[in-house]
Amino acid sequence: MPAPDVSRARRRLLVCQGSVCQAAGGLEARVVWQRRVGRSEGHGTVVVPTACLAMCRAAPVVVLYPDGAWFGRARARRVGLIWAAVESGTPRDAPGFLYRRADPEAPDGG
Ligand code: FES
Repeated sequence: MPAPDVSRARRRLLVCQGSVCQAAGGLEARVVWQRRVGRSEGHGTVVVPTACLAMCRAAPVVVLYPDGAWFGRARARRVGLIWAAVESGTPRDAPGFLYRRADPEAPDGG
């Protein structure tokens, strides 16, 4: 898989490839994320594999950056549902949504 061009990306989808996430389906999920996000050109999102994100109990884990939205149990079969919620601006409605960091700049605190 070619290295993603993160320099021009507006967002990054961090896909954990730590050992626990790999054992929970993270390898397959990464391939599906790559295909799904790759079809969404114009949104400026790239898939970036990462080391352990220290949320192993929710493996496999993905994080949308800089949005700060975390998703657990993000197996291949859930990629479409998660991404649809992200694209529609309702990531909290996605299956496996864990939390979103508070945005101190937002009027409601994020
Ligand atoms: S291996 Fe993925 S969160 Fe730890």
